[in-house]
Amino acid sequence: MTKQVFSTDIFEGKVAFVTGGGTGITGGVARALAGHGAKVAITSRKIENLEQMKSVIEEDGGECHAVSADVRDYEAVERAISESVDAFGKIDIVVNGAAGNFLCFANELSANGFGTVVDIDTKGTFNVCRAAFEQLKANEGQILNISATLHYLGTPMQIHVSAAKAGVDAITRNLAVEWGRYGIRVNGIAPGPIEDTEGMKRLLPPQLKESLTKRIPLKRFGRIKDIEDAALFICSPAASYISGVTLVVDGGQWLKGTSLS
Ligand code: COA
Repeated sequence: MTKQVFSTDIFEGKVAFVTGGGTGITGGVARALAGHGAKVAITSRKIENLEQMKSVIEEDGGECHAVSADVRDYEAVERAISESVDAFGKIDIVVNGAAGNFLCFANELSANGFGTVVDIDTKGTFNVCRAAFEQLKANEGQILNISATLHYLGTPMQIHVSAAKAGVDAITRNLAVEWGRYGIRVNGIAPGPIEDTEGMKRLLPPQLKESLTKRIPLKRFGRIKDIEDAALFICSPAASYISGVTLVVDGGQWLKGTSLS
Protein backbone atom coordinates (compact mmCIF):
# COMPACT_ATOMS: atom_id res chain seq x y z
CA MET A 1 0.00 0.00 0.00
CA THR A 2 1.22 3.51 -0.87
CA LYS A 3 2.18 5.61 2.11
CA GLN A 4 -0.27 8.48 2.79
CA VAL A 5 1.61 11.62 1.72
CA PHE A 6 -1.01 14.24 2.60
CA SER A 7 -3.02 14.47 5.79
CA THR A 8 -6.57 13.28 5.04
CA ASP A 9 -8.09 16.39 6.60
CA ILE A 10 -6.12 19.09 4.73
CA PHE A 11 -9.26 20.29 2.94
CA GLU A 12 -11.63 19.96 5.91
CA GLY A 13 -14.18 22.80 5.70
CA LYS A 14 -13.40 23.51 2.03
CA VAL A 15 -15.74 23.11 -0.94
CA ALA A 16 -14.46 22.34 -4.44
CA PHE A 17 -16.31 22.81 -7.75
CA VAL A 18 -14.79 20.50 -10.36
CA THR A 19 -15.66 20.59 -14.07
CA GLY A 20 -15.15 17.39 -16.01
CA GLY A 21 -15.30 15.79 -12.59
CA GLY A 22 -17.16 12.67 -13.71
CA THR A 23 -14.30 10.85 -15.39
CA GLY A 24 -10.59 10.74 -16.15
CA ILE A 25 -7.99 13.04 -14.66
CA THR A 26 -10.42 15.54 -13.18
CA GLY A 27 -12.59 12.76 -11.84
CA GLY A 28 -9.47 11.57 -10.00
CA VAL A 29 -8.78 15.07 -8.71
CA ALA A 30 -12.38 15.36 -7.44
CA ARG A 31 -12.07 12.02 -5.67
CA ALA A 32 -8.70 12.96 -4.18
CA LEU A 33 -9.98 16.30 -2.85
CA ALA A 34 -12.99 14.53 -1.32
CA GLY A 35 -10.67 11.92 0.16
CA HIS A 36 -8.78 14.73 1.89
CA GLY A 37 -11.77 16.40 3.51
CA ALA A 38 -13.30 18.67 0.86
CA LYS A 39 -16.96 18.62 -0.09
CA VAL A 40 -16.99 18.29 -3.84
CA ALA A 41 -19.47 19.49 -6.48
CA ILE A 42 -18.81 17.88 -9.84
CA THR A 43 -20.13 18.96 -13.20
CA SER A 44 -19.99 17.87 -16.83
CA ARG A 45 -22.42 17.36 -19.68
CA LYS A 46 -23.14 13.71 -18.86
CA ILE A 47 -25.11 13.20 -15.68
CA GLU A 48 -24.58 9.40 -15.82
CA ASN A 49 -20.80 9.88 -15.46
CA LEU A 50 -21.36 12.31 -12.60
CA GLU A 51 -23.72 9.96 -10.76
CA GLN A 52 -21.16 7.17 -11.05
CA MET A 53 -18.35 9.32 -9.62
CA LYS A 54 -20.67 10.61 -6.88
CA SER A 55 -21.29 7.00 -5.79
CA VAL A 56 -17.56 6.28 -5.78
CA ILE A 57 -16.83 9.36 -3.67
CA GLU A 58 -19.65 8.57 -1.26
CA GLU A 59 -18.52 4.95 -0.94
CA ASP A 60 -15.09 6.35 0.03
CA GLY A 61 -16.86 8.32 2.80
CA GLY A 62 -16.81 11.69 1.00
CA GLU A 63 -19.53 14.21 0.21
CA CYS A 64 -20.42 14.94 -3.40
CA HIS A 65 -23.04 16.89 -5.33
CA ALA A 66 -23.52 16.18 -9.04
CA VAL A 67 -24.89 18.82 -11.39
CA SER A 68 -24.84 18.66 -15.17
CA ALA A 69 -23.85 21.69 -17.24
CA ASP A 70 -22.09 22.48 -20.48
CA VAL A 71 -19.21 24.84 -19.63
CA ARG A 72 -19.70 26.60 -23.00
CA ASP A 73 -23.06 27.89 -21.76
CA TYR A 74 -22.47 30.72 -19.28
CA GLU A 75 -26.00 30.64 -17.87
CA ALA A 76 -25.78 26.89 -17.32
CA VAL A 77 -22.47 27.41 -15.50
CA GLU A 78 -24.04 30.09 -13.29
CA ARG A 79 -26.90 27.72 -12.46
CA ALA A 80 -24.49 24.87 -11.63
CA ILE A 81 -22.45 27.12 -9.36
CA SER A 82 -25.53 28.46 -7.63
CA GLU A 83 -26.87 24.93 -7.12
CA SER A 84 -23.52 23.83 -5.68
CA VAL A 85 -23.50 26.79 -3.29
CA ASP A 86 -27.04 25.84 -2.22
CA ALA A 87 -25.82 22.29 -1.57
CA PHE A 88 -22.57 23.04 0.27
CA GLY A 89 -22.80 26.72 1.29
CA LYS A 90 -19.84 28.11 -0.68
CA ILE A 91 -17.02 27.42 -3.14
CA ASP A 92 -13.33 27.68 -2.17
CA ILE A 93 -11.64 25.73 -4.94
CA VAL A 94 -12.46 25.63 -8.66
CA VAL A 95 -10.90 22.92 -10.80
CA ASN A 96 -11.33 23.42 -14.56
CA GLY A 97 -10.96 20.05 -16.21
CA ALA A 98 -13.75 19.92 -18.79
CA ALA A 99 -12.09 19.44 -22.16
CA GLY A 100 -12.67 18.17 -25.65
CA ASN A 101 -10.17 16.34 -27.79
CA PHE A 102 -9.79 14.36 -30.97
CA LEU A 103 -6.99 13.88 -33.46
CA CYS A 104 -7.28 15.78 -36.72
CA PHE A 105 -4.81 17.30 -39.17
CA ALA A 106 -5.13 21.09 -39.45
CA ASN A 107 -5.93 20.93 -43.18
CA GLU A 108 -8.80 18.53 -42.50
CA LEU A 109 -10.21 20.32 -39.44
CA SER A 110 -13.34 22.43 -39.89
CA ALA A 111 -13.64 25.90 -38.42
CA ASN A 112 -16.39 24.57 -36.18
CA GLY A 113 -14.19 21.67 -35.03
CA PHE A 114 -11.43 24.12 -34.04
CA GLY A 115 -13.91 26.46 -32.39
CA THR A 116 -15.67 23.68 -30.51
CA VAL A 117 -12.54 22.66 -28.62
CA VAL A 118 -11.54 26.28 -27.95
CA ASP A 119 -15.07 26.90 -26.67
CA ILE A 120 -14.99 23.92 -24.29
CA ASP A 121 -11.42 24.33 -22.99
CA THR A 122 -10.71 28.06 -23.10
CA LYS A 123 -14.07 29.77 -23.02
CA GLY A 124 -15.36 27.09 -20.62
CA THR A 125 -12.46 27.80 -18.24
CA PHE A 126 -13.13 31.55 -18.39
CA ASN A 127 -16.88 31.03 -17.89
CA VAL A 128 -16.40 28.98 -14.75
CA CYS A 129 -13.75 31.31 -13.27
CA ARG A 130 -15.93 34.33 -14.00
CA ALA A 131 -19.11 32.80 -12.61
CA ALA A 132 -17.30 31.60 -9.46
CA PHE A 133 -15.50 34.91 -8.86
CA GLU A 134 -17.73 36.24 -6.06
CA GLN A 135 -17.44 32.93 -4.19
CA LEU A 136 -13.67 32.80 -4.66
CA LYS A 137 -13.30 36.42 -3.57
CA ALA A 138 -15.45 35.90 -0.47
CA ASN A 139 -13.47 32.82 0.54
CA GLU A 140 -9.94 33.76 -0.64
CA GLY A 141 -10.25 30.74 -2.86
CA GLN A 142 -8.24 29.31 -5.67
CA ILE A 143 -8.42 28.01 -9.21
CA LEU A 144 -6.66 25.00 -10.69
CA ASN A 145 -6.75 24.78 -14.50
CA ILE A 146 -5.94 21.48 -16.17
CA SER A 147 -3.79 22.28 -19.21
CA ALA A 148 -1.38 20.31 -21.43
CA THR A 149 2.14 20.52 -22.84
CA LEU A 150 1.06 20.17 -26.49
CA HIS A 151 1.54 23.86 -27.26
CA TYR A 152 5.07 24.14 -25.84
CA LEU A 153 6.32 22.71 -29.13
CA GLY A 154 4.30 21.78 -32.20
CA THR A 155 2.06 18.72 -31.96
CA PRO A 156 0.63 17.18 -35.13
CA MET A 157 -3.15 16.70 -35.26
CA GLN A 158 -3.60 18.82 -32.16
CA ILE A 159 -3.77 22.42 -33.42
CA HIS A 160 -7.19 22.93 -31.86
CA VAL A 161 -6.22 21.57 -28.44
CA SER A 162 -2.83 23.31 -28.50
CA ALA A 163 -4.48 26.67 -29.21
CA ALA A 164 -7.14 26.01 -26.58
CA LYS A 165 -4.66 25.05 -23.86
CA ALA A 166 -2.37 28.00 -24.69
CA GLY A 167 -5.45 30.10 -23.96
CA VAL A 168 -6.00 28.27 -20.69
CA ASP A 169 -2.41 29.03 -19.63
CA ALA A 170 -2.99 32.71 -20.47
CA ILE A 171 -6.10 32.66 -18.27
CA THR A 172 -4.04 31.14 -15.44
CA ARG A 173 -1.44 33.90 -15.62
CA ASN A 174 -3.84 36.79 -16.16
CA LEU A 175 -6.19 35.84 -13.36
CA ALA A 176 -3.25 35.24 -11.00
CA VAL A 177 -2.23 38.84 -11.68
CA GLU A 178 -5.72 40.36 -11.52
CA TRP A 179 -7.21 38.35 -8.66
CA GLY A 180 -4.18 38.00 -6.41
CA ARG A 181 -5.32 41.15 -4.61
CA TYR A 182 -8.36 39.22 -3.39
CA GLY A 183 -6.19 36.42 -2.01
CA ILE A 184 -7.18 34.16 -4.92
CA ARG A 185 -4.45 31.83 -6.15
CA VAL A 186 -4.63 30.66 -9.77
CA ASN A 187 -2.50 27.77 -10.99
CA GLY A 188 -2.47 25.02 -13.56
CA ILE A 189 -1.26 21.49 -14.07
CA ALA A 190 -0.04 20.30 -17.47
CA PRO A 191 -0.25 16.51 -17.50
CA GLY A 192 1.86 14.50 -19.93
CA PRO A 193 0.66 11.16 -21.28
CA ILE A 194 -1.56 9.62 -18.60
CA GLU A 195 -2.25 5.97 -19.32
CA ASP A 196 -5.41 5.19 -17.38
CA THR A 197 -7.66 7.70 -19.12
CA GLU A 198 -10.31 7.28 -21.79
CA GLY A 199 -8.70 10.09 -23.80
CA MET A 200 -5.34 8.31 -23.98
CA LYS A 201 -6.98 5.02 -24.98
CA ARG A 202 -8.77 6.86 -27.76
CA LEU A 203 -5.94 9.15 -28.87
CA LEU A 204 -2.84 6.99 -28.69
CA PRO A 205 -2.47 4.17 -31.19
CA PRO A 206 -1.34 1.10 -29.13
CA GLN A 207 1.69 0.51 -31.37
CA LEU A 208 3.03 3.94 -30.39
CA LYS A 209 2.84 3.38 -26.64
CA GLU A 210 5.94 1.20 -26.33
CA SER A 211 8.18 3.42 -28.43
CA LEU A 212 6.93 6.55 -26.68
CA THR A 213 7.56 5.01 -23.25
CA LYS A 214 11.20 4.47 -24.16
CA ARG A 215 11.52 8.17 -25.01
CA ILE A 216 10.00 9.48 -21.77
CA PRO A 217 12.88 10.38 -19.41
CA LEU A 218 11.19 8.61 -16.47
CA LYS A 219 10.46 5.58 -18.71
CA ARG A 220 6.81 5.25 -17.89
CA PHE A 221 3.45 6.78 -18.69
CA GLY A 222 1.85 8.89 -16.00
CA ARG A 223 -1.09 7.67 -13.96
CA ILE A 224 -4.13 9.63 -12.79
CA LYS A 225 -2.69 9.36 -9.26
CA ASP A 226 0.33 11.41 -10.36
CA ILE A 227 -1.99 14.28 -11.27
CA GLU A 228 -4.07 13.82 -8.12
CA ASP A 229 -0.94 14.18 -5.97
CA ALA A 230 0.17 17.32 -7.83
CA ALA A 231 -3.33 18.78 -7.44
CA LEU A 232 -3.40 18.03 -3.72
CA PHE A 233 -0.10 19.85 -3.31
CA ILE A 234 -1.09 22.91 -5.38
CA CYS A 235 -4.45 23.23 -3.64
CA SER A 236 -2.95 22.71 -0.17
CA PRO A 237 -1.63 25.34 2.24
CA ALA A 238 1.89 24.09 1.39
CA ALA A 239 1.49 26.00 -1.90
CA SER A 240 0.05 29.16 -0.36
CA TYR A 241 2.67 31.43 -2.01
CA ILE A 242 2.39 29.78 -5.43
CA SER A 243 0.24 31.55 -8.02
CA GLY A 244 0.31 31.93 -11.80
CA VAL A 245 2.22 28.67 -12.27
CA THR A 246 1.40 25.75 -14.54
CA LEU A 247 3.12 22.72 -13.09
CA VAL A 248 4.21 20.18 -15.70
CA VAL A 249 3.63 16.60 -14.56
CA ASP A 250 4.92 14.54 -17.47
CA GLY A 251 8.01 12.58 -16.46
CA GLY A 252 10.10 15.03 -18.49
CA GLN A 253 8.35 14.11 -21.74
CA TRP A 254 7.92 17.47 -23.45
CA LEU A 255 11.56 18.44 -22.96
CA LYS A 256 12.49 15.61 -25.33
CA GLY A 257 9.93 16.72 -27.89
CA THR A 258 8.31 13.29 -27.89
CA SER A 259 4.95 14.13 -29.39
CA LEU A 260 2.15 11.58 -29.26
CA SER A 261 1.51 11.44 -32.95
N1 COA B 1 -12.34 14.84 -36.22
C1 COA B 1 -12.59 16.02 -36.87
N2 COA B 1 -13.58 16.87 -36.51
C2 COA B 1 -14.31 16.53 -35.44
C3 COA B 1 -14.10 15.33 -34.70
C4 COA B 1 -13.07 14.47 -35.16
N3 COA B 1 -12.81 13.32 -34.53
N4 COA B 1 -15.01 15.29 -33.69
C5 COA B 1 -15.76 16.42 -33.78
N5 COA B 1 -15.33 17.15 -34.84
C6 COA B 1 -15.91 18.38 -35.33
C7 COA B 1 -17.28 18.10 -35.92
O1 COA B 1 -17.18 17.60 -37.24
C8 COA B 1 -17.97 19.44 -35.83
O2 COA B 1 -17.58 20.30 -36.85
P1 COA B 1 -18.52 20.50 -38.18
O3 COA B 1 -19.81 21.08 -37.68
O4 COA B 1 -17.75 21.46 -39.04
O5 COA B 1 -18.67 19.16 -38.81
C9 COA B 1 -17.39 20.02 -34.54
O6 COA B 1 -16.16 19.30 -34.28
C10 COA B 1 -18.30 19.83 -33.38
O7 COA B 1 -18.56 18.44 -33.23
P2 COA B 1 -19.78 17.91 -32.34
O8 COA B 1 -19.65 16.44 -32.22
O9 COA B 1 -21.05 18.47 -32.87
O10 COA B 1 -19.48 18.68 -30.98
P3 COA B 1 -19.86 18.31 -29.54
O11 COA B 1 -19.95 19.59 -28.84
O12 COA B 1 -21.01 17.38 -29.45
O13 COA B 1 -18.57 17.49 -29.03
C11 COA B 1 -16.30 16.97 -28.56
C12 COA B 1 -17.27 17.97 -29.18
C13 COA B 1 -14.88 17.48 -28.80
C14 COA B 1 -16.49 16.94 -27.05
C15 COA B 1 -16.51 15.59 -29.19
O14 COA B 1 -15.71 15.46 -30.31
C16 COA B 1 -16.28 14.44 -28.28
O15 COA B 1 -17.23 13.93 -27.75
N6 COA B 1 -15.02 14.01 -28.04
C17 COA B 1 -14.73 12.90 -27.17
C18 COA B 1 -14.78 13.27 -25.70
C19 COA B 1 -13.62 14.09 -25.29
O16 COA B 1 -13.07 14.84 -26.06
N7 COA B 1 -13.21 13.97 -24.04
C20 COA B 1 -12.09 14.69 -23.52
C21 COA B 1 -10.86 13.82 -23.53
S1 COA B 1 -9.41 14.79 -23.28
